[in-house]
Amino acid sequence: MILPEIPEKAIVWVEMNRNRKSQSEKSRRFELQMRQVQKMEAIGALAGGIAHDFNNILAIIQLNAAMALDSQKAGESAEEELNQILEATVRAKELTMKILTFSRKGEKSDSVLCLQDEVSDAMKMIRSVVPTSIDIEMNIDQNCSPVRIDPMDINQVMLNLCVNASQAMEEKGRLAIGLAEVELAEGDTREYQQRQPGRYVQLTVSDTGCGMDDETRESIFEPFFTTKPRGVGTGMGLSVVYGIVESCGGIIRVESAAGEGATFSMFFPVSDDPGPARDVLVAEEEWDASGCERILFVDDEKELASLAKRVLEKRGYKVSFFSSSSEALAAFRAAPQDFDLMVTDHNMPELTGVELAREILSIRRELPIILSTGYTSKVSTRNFRDHGFCQLLVKPYNPMALVWAVRRALDAA
Ligand SMILES: Nc1ncnc2c1ncn2[C@@H]1O[C@H](COP(=O)(O)OP(=O)(O)OP(=O)(O)O)[C@@H](O)[C@H]1O
Ligand SMILES: [Mg+2]
Repeated sequence: MILPEIPEKAIVWVEMNRNRKSQSEKSRRFELQMRQVQKMEAIGALAGGIAHDFNNILAIIQLNAAMALDSQKAGESAEEELNQILEATVRAKELTMKILTFSRKGEKSDSVLCLQDEVSDAMKMIRSVVPTSIDIEMNIDQNCSPVRIDPMDINQVMLNLCVNASQAMEEKGRLAIGLAEVELAEGDTREYQQRQPGRYVQLTVSDTGCGMDDETRESIFEPFFTTKPRGVGTGMGLSVVYGIVESCGGIIRVESAAGEGATFSMFFPVSDDPGPARDVLVAEEEWDASGCERILFVDDEKELASLAKRVLEKRGYKVSFFSSSSEALAAFRAAPQDFDLMVTDHNMPELTGVELAREILSIRRELPIILSTGYTSKVSTRNFRDHGFCQLLVKPYNPMALVWAVRRALDAA
């Protein structure tokens, strides 16, 4: 028996939406809308913390760039400063990627994920909304089996629970995050209809905050139940968490008493699917990414396009760059055989990347096209091929990522 024996009234299991399957399409859409609204609110809560983190990163870049200039003037090496700038941009990229995954709209995707990766990533973002006077303790088993859950859903669960915990502790306390794989026996799942005994990944979020009395605890999963003043809470956080755990076939429990903190435990059934393949990194020196092919590079951000041109030309490529998509199309129309590959941004005035690709492919169907973009609501890692792109290169990228993407696309063509 893995679950601790907890006195009956200390556990609350609210059976909401018991007959989810029979929910009408209308109420399903309403639920999706509610989740989106709640998510936007959560993003609002994040904005201040994120801005603060971003300013810190910008300060690191600014200071190092100024110091690099000084070093250069003095005829000294600026390697250390430049490396710190690179490191800072990696941090900034991680932060933006997280926000974008989180704010992505739309229907759930059915992905098989390793919670250890997702939870650690989510905590990087959440760290910026929890006051630094609160200790965060992470106890994550790196060997948990994968579970079936949408990545943005797990972010939303973590954010809602951690914001609640942080609000319950005000300025001081300890937030503990735990992740482990457990075996639930017959007796553990008996009280939860439709849940089978077996292997589950257990995620716990516990705090040393104000805790809850019995009456509060019994209502927390109800939509719009809140004990917080107007403007602070809408009471949607936990009902959204409940809905997500339920839709994954999971179990959620809470242990709490007034003045004694709170512990939320969630159990997600282990998936039979093997989960995401880990990226295999190819050592830089094993790869000859240079070439002499002709590349059409389109990005309305002039500085970026001219930098990319320099990077590619250093490796031997011939690059024509355009900051206007319609001028790029005109150049291609005039001499379609003069290019071996196109790299294009998506969000541009005049033609978007998707529209430009469509026009180009109607002239030369076999031309490899790489989409290089920071964020689009239209194209995702799942559907970029449907729009005719052979690769998706997510901005910001480092020079090697660009050169590799180009070489790989040319070799595959
Ligand atoms: N960790 C916790 N410690 C103490 N009380 C909690 C904790 N988490 C939730 N609660 C109680 O449950 C209530 C409902 O939480 P929920 O997250 O659903 O809404 P909210 O936090 O009040 O508002 P919102 O999340 O929409 O901003 C809270 O108002 C609070 O009384
Ligand atoms: Mg909340």
